[in-house]
Amino acid sequence: MSSKKQTIAILDAGAQYGKVIDRRIRELSVRSELLPFNTSAKKLAQYGAVIISGGPESVYNKTAPEYDAALFSTKVPILGICYGMQVMNYQANGVIERKSTREDGQHEVELKNDCALFKGLSDREVVLMSHGDTVDQVGEGFSVTAKSGDLIAGIANEAKKQYGVQFHPEVDLTEHGRHILENFVFAVAALEPTFTIENREEQAIKHIKKTVGDRHVLLLVSGGIDSTVAAVLLGKAIEPEKLHLLHVDSGLMRKEESAQVAKALAAVGLKLHVVDATQEFLEATTEIDGKQTVTLTEALNPEVKRKIIGDTFIAVADREVARLQLPENEVVLGQGTLRPDLIESASETVSATAQTIKTHHNDTALVRRLRAANRVVEPLSEYHKDEVRQLAEELGLPAELVWRQPFPGPGLGIRILCANKPYKTKDFKQVAKQAAGFSTGSHQVALLPVRTVGVQGDGRTYSYLVGVFGSADWQTLFQLARDIPKTIHAVNRVAYFWGDAPTTADSQQITSTTVTKKTLTQLRAADAIVMEELLRYDLVRGISQVPVVLVPLSFGKTGARSIALRTIMTNDFMTGKPALPGEDIPIAVLTTMVERILSEVQGVERVCYDVTSKPPATTEWE
Ligand code: XMP
Repeated sequence: MSSKKQTIAILDAGAQYGKVIDRRIRELSVRSELLPFNTSAKKLAQYGAVIISGGPESVYNKTAPEYDAALFSTKVPILGICYGMQVMNYQANGVIERKSTREDGQHEVELKNDCALFKGLSDREVVLMSHGDTVDQVGEGFSVTAKSGDLIAGIANEAKKQYGVQFHPEVDLTEHGRHILENFVFAVAALEPTFTIENREEQAIKHIKKTVGDRHVLLLVSGGIDSTVAAVLLGKAIEPEKLHLLHVDSGLMRKEESAQVAKALAAVGLKLHVVDATQEFLEATTEIDGKQTVTLTEALNPEVKRKIIGDTFIAVADREVARLQLPENEVVLGQGTLRPDLIESASETVSATAQTIKTHHNDTALVRRLRAANRVVEPLSEYHKDEVRQLAEELGLPAELVWRQPFPGPGLGIRILCANKPYKTKDFKQVAKQAAGFSTGSHQVALLPVRTVGVQGDGRTYSYLVGVFGSADWQTLFQLARDIPKTIHAVNRVAYFWGDAPTTADSQQITSTTVTKKTLTQLRAADAIVMEELLRYDLVRGISQVPVVLVPLSFGKTGARSIALRTIMTNDFMTGKPALPGEDIPIAVLTTMVERILSEVQGVERVCYDVTSKPPATTEWE
């Protein structure tokens, strides 16, 4: 059978979910390709199946993206998601209606589970909806397979193997989305899971050899899994003396992180050149809009910290690269870029912002010249994150490294919430009163004088944190985290604090905090405790990321600070939920973390657990 017949074509109508679909399909060991929406039906008919992803347009708009309607007359199985379902229905002479209200967020839908797409599911499932238009009347040959209240949430023409869903099976917030995709790929389209990791490793090595020839390769190794795996693959493909691996230790790394990476690479015969620049980073400043900033140690604003750290990274790396005295015309730049980074998304996502920042970290003068000259090799460009991990395991990298959770470029620098006074806007009292209104007999709710980053509506916010004290009844706490930011827009994050409820006056105290050796030591110690416990209980894989944050809240104790435990469960890194204690993370593990932090980390008097989803909060606090 031709390889196209074993490949799924994903048509991206400009949705933010296209690359997530791609990833999901590859997780099923099936090859997928993202193609323009207007790809010809003739070409698409050669594929094993087609998935049309959502987009911001309405099918009736003149600006709606063009496509080849003949696709719907071919025999190729089609899954239309969101906008894709509307196009499918429209082409079958169905009616789409613009509703005055949008349906966004998690909803329960009723499913007909005798439909091939929904086999094995319950008749009610929780899914993520995000749309304005809806199908009002189904097209010829189609029937309704799912409903969200009165709205049509799924349609099918089983004879033609055409299926549409108004929700997003590809994201985490659709609880059994993977099952739906499996049904489509294996039961409906009858593809086989033959696109394996070994297959991909071989291709990566071949690709490196072809791109690099006998030139040198320079790779900046961050400490994360991507660049480490890129280093190992490069090591397999080219001669050791032509591979130059550089790691800048900014002092903002986790405990023993730099040493671990060097050790893991040494174990596979690769030498990592490590530069210790801790002091240099703390004292660093940079220019923003022509003005010199304060030093990192004095900075309060997270974006200023990011810029200082990013620019210092470049300066240090530049200097070290110069020291290597590489023959410039003979050098290729290695990059740990993953497949999703390369898939262009029309939408402004939060991860896109993070990506810009990451790129910034690799932006040294030589790197820029090499990139401009197209002298770049990206051995992981065919992989998604989970595949990189799978590969890392097969390459024999140690578990702590393989399962190391994504860590932001600026490292612990943006996990220390900096402030020199309580954050109180003019309406603090009024907002505090509203927040206190959520208190119950078993919970005290208090507005806290710090702010963190969130995503609300279409943009990023920088708003208040609310603390909940009292009984650790997690279902109620999670509900409060949904309700409070919905009602009080000045709040984007809610955290549960262990310990007694503070007095109002105490809850408004902070300890002046910036990035210093001392605060870094506090945070690194707390972070290491959390990591140790997660590893001990084998929880690192199940929970995507666990940022540990040092927060200036002192609750009236002079010089004291707090630690926030932020867990996020996500596969798409665009939306996510905190791990539910008692279900996703044993309560005993949390208790151990809290007790150990309070007894082992000097100056930390309180620990809290972030109970907010993303949105309205983000993964990181800054
Ligand atoms: P948020 O906090 O926006 O984070 O939900 C999404 C993902 O991006 C990571 N992140 C960063 N990565 N530099 C990075 O390299 C940064 O400045 C940065 N800020 C956030 C975050 O850890 C999460 O994985």
